[in-house]
Amino acid sequence: MTTTKRVHNFGAGPAALPLAVLEQVQAELLDFGGTGMSVMETSHRSKAFGQVIEEAEADLRTILGLSDDYAVLFLQGGASLQFSMVPANLRGRGASADYVMTGKWSQAAFKEADKSGSARAVGSTEPNFDRVPTQGEIDFDSQAAYVHFTSNNTIYGTQWPSEPEPPSGVPLVCDASSDVLSRPLDIGRYGLVYAGAQKNLGPAGIAVVVVRKDLLERTPGGLPALMDYRLMAEKRSLYNTPPTFAVYVVGRVLKWLLDLGGLTEIGKRNEAKAALLYDAIDGSGGFYRGHAQLGSRSRMNVTFRLASEDLETDFLKEAEPADLAGLKGHRSVGGLRASIYNACPIESVQALVDFMADFQRRRG
Ligand SMILES: Cc1ncc(COP(=O)(O)O)c(C=O)c1O
Repeated sequence: MTTTKRVHNFGAGPAALPLAVLEQVQAELLDFGGTGMSVMETSHRSKAFGQVIEEAEADLRTILGLSDDYAVLFLQGGASLQFSMVPANLRGRGASADYVMTGKWSQAAFKEADKSGSARAVGSTEPNFDRVPTQGEIDFDSQAAYVHFTSNNTIYGTQWPSEPEPPSGVPLVCDASSDVLSRPLDIGRYGLVYAGAQKNLGPAGIAVVVVRKDLLERTPGGLPALMDYRLMAEKRSLYNTPPTFAVYVVGRVLKWLLDLGGLTEIGKRNEAKAALLYDAIDGSGGFYRGHAQLGSRSRMNVTFRLASEDLETDFLKEAEPADLAGLKGHRSVGGLRASIYNACPIESVQALVDFMADFQRRRG
């Protein structure tokens, strides 16, 4: 048991990690698995680290129910490098890709694809980005090399209730950075899923990619080695030195998720946390106002506003001494944002809801 002070962490990322994982990392830090050294001091070619990366992959496969048709990659460069790697590997010469535009991160992904070839922005919910588009609002190209979407829009607090449906035969590519492994997922619908680790998977410094192996055939020759999915898959993410400590922590988070019951159980917990918070917003008689439209509300990032910026500033000022951290909204939306990722316990959400009620009593 730790005696260190821990706040209720609602930061959008890097974000809270499960306390049990942090304690395990702490306990193993100086002597990893009887090696007499830290996992950070161990060769990435060592037997001990080989076991770490193999177990991380195996546990992810179990959690997602991944068949051998999919490869798992642990890569560097965060989610942002995937914005470039996806078109470089999957688009093919002369072809175009569709990008569904639901916020800043979709725009960033589109921008990188647009730099290096043809990309179409479809289904945009600009300028407010307070919802995701309906299937009918998306003008898909049936010849597209792939369709890219962002499953959860971290900044705006919107999330797709279910995946968009691309035209038949067009692979679906997903930036799942802020809701990966937060609910059950039908992976068979996806060609490729990527996620920066620093919200639901572990520390910053690593991105996890799950890709259907037939799509690896599209990788053209001549790509920089570290951007080449096929090479990274062949080398089992060990072409060069991977971020070993990050891989290890991701592995521990995956075991934590497996132990608590996998995606079905975490999905229930996340639903309960989100319901608690949205009920508090909806039941405040308009004192707190949610940003996202009802059918698009995120279970990971809850964005809301108060009547004035002054009131929001006061809310944040008073939240801090109450040990409620990371609640400031993104500068492009303003207001408040509570990120309640997998590792955020319901007790933290309850503490926030209690604080919100008290603040309203005093200032409403
Ligand atoms: C949905 C989404 N995509 C991409 C990114 C960028 O991730 P990275 O900083 O790992 O490149 C973020 C970061 O917050 C995000 O929320």
